[in-house]
Amino acid sequence: MTTATRIDWTREHCRLLQAIRREFAVTRPFEGLTIGTGIHIEAKTVALLTTLRAGGAQVVATGNLNSTQPAAVEALRAEGVTVIGAQTRDEREHGRYQRELLATQPDLILDNGGDLFARYLDHPYPSLKGGTEETTSGRMRLKPLRDRLRRPVLVINDSPIKQFAENRHAVGQSTLESLLRLTNRVTNGERVTVVGYGACGRGVADNLRGAHAKVSVVEADPVTRLRAHLDGFDTPARDRALSTADVIITVTGAPGVITAKDLPLLKDGVILANAGHFPVEIDAAGLLKAPEVRAVREYEDDLATLELADGRRIHLVARGHMFNLAGPRALGNSIESMDLGFALQARCLEAVATGQVDGTSCVVPVPAEIDAQVADAYLADRYQ
Ligand SMILES: NC(=O)c1ccc[n+]([C@@H]2O[C@H](COP(=O)([O-])OP(=O)(O)OC[C@H]3O[C@@H](n4cnc5c(N)ncnc54)[C@H](O)[C@@H]3O)[C@@H](O)[C@H]2O)c1
Repeated sequence: MTTATRIDWTREHCRLLQAIRREFAVTRPFEGLTIGTGIHIEAKTVALLTTLRAGGAQVVATGNLNSTQPAAVEALRAEGVTVIGAQTRDEREHGRYQRELLATQPDLILDNGGDLFARYLDHPYPSLKGGTEETTSGRMRLKPLRDRLRRPVLVINDSPIKQFAENRHAVGQSTLESLLRLTNRVTNGERVTVVGYGACGRGVADNLRGAHAKVSVVEADPVTRLRAHLDGFDTPARDRALSTADVIITVTGAPGVITAKDLPLLKDGVILANAGHFPVEIDAAGLLKAPEVRAVREYEDDLATLELADGRRIHLVARGHMFNLAGPRALGNSIESMDLGFALQARCLEAVATGQVDGTSCVVPVPAEIDAQVADAYLADRYQ
């Protein structure tokens, strides 16, 4: 019998990346190039970054706020990836790691949330060829910067594959898994309010409904709200949806979705959790220092309870950080969903490195031929 780690398990099940890794070992699309990455450092990331290494890249990596996993850092370092920094919630420290990464002047950037490209513009250098951006939040941030970036930046989030494989299906599953893992509380019969009914919110709402919760949706856009209604969810006015909820999950990409101003509305015992990328949707800092908060009780596993002067208790998960990659034994989205998204990453970085796209492709979706190539590869593997 041999023993292996969870990282081994994950890598062995990233079958698309394994095939790309074998191909890249021959084609070496990144020979002589440095790739700087600012994506969550967890087991699936090891599979992606070592695939880029196999393609000839020097890889310099830092994580995102809160989610860096020490075992993944160790595995990356063992494979020759330079990892800058460690798990942190401190934005200034995180910013320092990003600046340190950019000081290596990577030829390609793999960004997650737009931080690296935005900081690159503070100190631009000519050798940057371009790169990729993983998320909705990053796309919103980088679009207005197109005129200054003027390099190919392919947005993985805007691939239909990322939309349905990860955002629609996997985020919903991992959100449910994380709610159960972190709180160990029942979902059956509970009133859950999902704020935001984009690709991620739809999956979250569906999965909670599948777990026998009574799900309401709060959505800013009336057309999308109608969609939630016709999908069978309650879509009451925001205040009513918040005041009746046992659990509130934000997944909008927008700041200040739940703030201290909402405290008077919230029910005793409500659980607040954020599945959006940045820790800005639930204003945790503002809630914690609100005048009606009499005491804060911190528990293991990143849970906190705000005890209000009127006796109500408000439970906060992961201090408003993205909670499906937080707390003990955080698994994040399913391996296959990330294998698909990361195969898009590897192919898009290859396209930028080898000049298949130019500066006119600045903050644009993944080219359709890459989507088709990745979809074909996944299905061919399933039906062989
Ligand atoms: N947790 C994860 O693993 C994971 C994975 C992928 C994406 N994300 C993040 O999840 C967030 C949502 O992603 P998406 O792809 O669903 O985005 P999206 O743009 O498809 O949907 C967001 C929805 O939220 C709505 N909205 C915005 N502000 C609102 C507000 N104040 N109140 C109510 N509704 C509001 C918008 O109208 C939109 O329908 C982003 O931050 C994204 O980066 C997280």
